[in-house]
Amino acid sequence: MLSSFVFPAVGDLMDWSQPGYWTSHVVTLSYIVAAVLFILSLRGLSSHESSRQGNNLGMIGMGIALAATILAALSNGPGRGVLVTALLIAVAMLIGASIGIWKAAKVEMTGMPELIALLHSFVGLAAVLVGYNSYLAPDVQAVALGGFHLGEVFLGVFIGAVTLTGSIVAYLKLSGKMSGAPLMLPGRNNLNMAAIGVTIALMAWFIAAGHSAWAWIPFILMTIIALALGFHLVAAIGGGDMPVVVSMLNSYSGWAAAAAGFMLNNDLLIITGALVGSSGAFLSYIMCRAMNRSFISVILGGFGTAESTGASGDEDGEHQEINAEQVAAMLAGSRRVMITPGYGMAVAQAQYPVAELTNALRDMGVEVEFGVHPVAGRLPGHMNVLLAEAKVPYDIVKEMDEVNDDFEDIDTVLVIGANDTVNPAAEEPGSPIAGMPVLKVWEAKNVIVFKRSMATGYAGVQNPLFFKENTHMLFGDAKASVDNIVSAVRQNA
Ligand code: TAP
Repeated sequence: MLSSFVFPAVGDLMDWSQPGYWTSHVVTLSYIVAAVLFILSLRGLSSHESSRQGNNLGMIGMGIALAATILAALSNGPGRGVLVTALLIAVAMLIGASIGIWKAAKVEMTGMPELIALLHSFVGLAAVLVGYNSYLAPDVQAVALGGFHLGEVFLGVFIGAVTLTGSIVAYLKLSGKMSGAPLMLPGRNNLNMAAIGVTIALMAWFIAAGHSAWAWIPFILMTIIALALGFHLVAAIGGGDMPVVVSMLNSYSGWAAAAAGFMLNNDLLIITGALVGSSGAFLSYIMCRAMNRSFISVILGGFGTAESTGASGDEDGEHQEINAEQVAAMLAGSRRVMITPGYGMAVAQAQYPVAELTNALRDMGVEVEFGVHPVAGRLPGHMNVLLAEAKVPYDIVKEMDEVNDDFEDIDTVLVIGANDTVNPAAEEPGSPIAGMPVLKVWEAKNVIVFKRSMATGYAGVQNPLFFKENTHMLFGDAKASVDNIVSAVRQNA
């Protein structure tokens, strides 16, 4: 299938008098162009400077892919006539595009992870539906492939069903509609292994049964097991590991799309699915490394993770408060300032006054840098996008690893709406976030924490940073607090 895409038979190339000759070659050529554009798009998305261009290339690629697929559908319409096929496609696209535009226009940046999780569930559902359709109404090529096609259908439905329920659970957890705590069923790893073992046996039965009525038993049983497995895999992951789950489901949705491509005999869907699947898997791997988590453990639903005692980080203590004027004075007397943003900066939309404060301090000769934790916020690169939006220069926005040895030399750290990513409890064995690298802000001379209360962060772990001698809490909405500091800095200048 793929080989005929790359190397069309010489006879086919020559036979331009056949009906559909031009259409099929235009479609093939368009698919190659779209595939190349998708690869260039991924390349563009790997850095801030080229990400806008990467997005544009992806959109052009998708436009070409859609146009070519519609052309192919119209020329191969299953005998119902071009007009009816065109009408069905137009209605489906109108409904899909309206929902997509409405959702994208409405979503807050902080709500992106749950929207992404929900969209992944649609890809999973599509793969399941395509699988059932492909089994019920196989085309000529599928019939010719026999058992191989049945294997494609079985795997496609399996991956799709796991993605479907896994993504729904991720959506419910991320949107707070379901508890974020990991579900720890007794013998959960054995349950997962048993589900996979039974699925392999069912696959053999399904292929052997072919299109007889018996095949429905393994087919439906597998679908139920896969739906339960998707639920269980993601339900077993919680708190700080959720970011990895989102990118892992991104990867699963890619493989589900690739499986649908095999079933539909659509080469571009196979290529696109494989690109999404492998880039999602790679992103999950990078995030696991950044959080010092085992990749295998996370993709297998928390396999092998020790249960935390929850003992550490629970201690309380006395905290000290500070006001905006005092912070302004402290900043004016500082030589080096580090800002570590977190989810609260995004909630408050404080990035604009933060950029203003940065400019004001730099004008006064203070050295200002940003230290960004890889999972700060609620999606990969969240803080970088917000800071770029507010026009903070890229060269002063540094990764955690670049700044983590510098804190001893920093006069004042502004922790703006960050909590888990600056929590020293991560260095204590037994803490739920034990082992996760954190920004060592407490090593600086002064630490100012901007938040509204003493509440915990996303992982639900108390933060001993708040009770340290060199830490002061500035309570209130981060935007209002930074606005007040900017006014005070300007007045004193
Ligand atoms: P969090 O640990 O979630 O802490 C954010 C803090 O912001 C909260 O303690 C909250 O305290 C404060 N806050 C909220 N609204 C605020 C406002 N309007 N003004 C001032 N403060 C406000 O954030 P983080 O340090 O960025 O860590 C990210 C966490 O999210 C990690 O646990 C990470 O694993 C998880 N996560 C990350 C991702 C990705 S990929 N980045 C995806 C999903 C989950 P108050 O309520 O007291 O104000």
